[in-house]
Amino acid sequence: MVKVAVLGAAGGIGQPLSLLLKANTTITELALFDIANTAGVAADLSHINTPAKVTGYKGDEQLEGALKGADVVVIPAGVPRKPGMTRDDLFKINAGIVKNLATAAAKHCPKAFMAIISNPVNSTVPIVAEVFKAHGVYDAKRIFGVTTLDIVRANTFVSELKNTEPQSTNVPVIGGHSGVTIIPVLSATGHSFTDEQVERLTQRIQYGGDEVVKAKDGAGSATLSMAYAGARFVNSLLEASVLKKTGVTECTYVKSDVAEGLEYFSTVVELGPEGVSKIHPIPSLNAHEKKLLDAAVPELKANIQKGVDFVKNAT
Ligand code: NAI
Repeated sequence: MVKVAVLGAAGGIGQPLSLLLKANTTITELALFDIANTAGVAADLSHINTPAKVTGYKGDEQLEGALKGADVVVIPAGVPRKPGMTRDDLFKINAGIVKNLATAAAKHCPKAFMAIISNPVNSTVPIVAEVFKAHGVYDAKRIFGVTTLDIVRANTFVSELKNTEPQSTNVPVIGGHSGVTIIPVLSATGHSFTDEQVERLTQRIQYGGDEVVKAKDGAGSATLSMAYAGARFVNSLLEASVLKKTGVTECTYVKSDVAEGLEYFSTVVELGPEGVSKIHPIPSLNAHEKKLLDAAVPELKANIQKGVDFVKNAT
């Protein structure tokens, strides 16, 4: 039995993500939670002839039902960006939402893998960790910031430039998940790029989200590509933990000591039955990438501290 709970399931990301998870035949129960509109989404998805039994839960009083027995909890709940906003601008609203959902998860499914999509990921992952610590159920190996969309974007942009197959292009993107904290390691792709190409690709990978925010013109941020990326991450988690496949890796933002002075960082992580099985070190970086790392560190540090303080000051 494999239960996956999606919190924020009726939203722009939540709906297509739930659809893609419904197509994953490893999942036997898909619990959809939101503060509104879950009944319709659940009824709709429940007609798809795959094994997962779909259940809808609405409002705080039904949160326990959604979480009880969950093996994986995916959180895309919260508000998305509008043009001109940074991910950090979302902190005020989303920090509280994530803290409340994490508190319920710490009580009702403390062993679940927590996959955090809600922005700002650089801060919401420390929030979940601090909540789990406060409840005495913290396991660093089970809490993940989903940065997969940065990798998906990087693979697409590089494959377009180099005429390679998008599915087999593999660009590691390390660091965090916002602006300058997103560090594409183009030197690890085996391709050569001109300085100008590196500059343009780096900018586009770091700010690809803004392209979507701008194009949607006030109607939100990436939802469909994020759903694809989120489903890919959950599929990888389940392949490693349930299907016991070895060698499953994803770049993901986790508790890590690979970057000096930072408690959380994303590098390639090997997934296993207990979640994080091995954290790969920062790959060897060229001079340009070292500069990107230097620029990322102070911002990441501040983002992490902001998340930690939010929980500490509230208790
Ligand atoms: P949306 O507004 O379309 O959907 C959010 C959903 O969360 C809504 O259905 C809303 O009712 C629900 N919600 C609000 N408060 C809740 C609560 N307390 N409990 C449960 N559900 C609650 O937003 P969208 O576009 O789906 O984005 C969601 C989040 O994902 C945003 O924070 C956005 O910034 C983030 N995001 C993250 C990405 C990543 O790469 N990690 C990429 C794109 C977006």
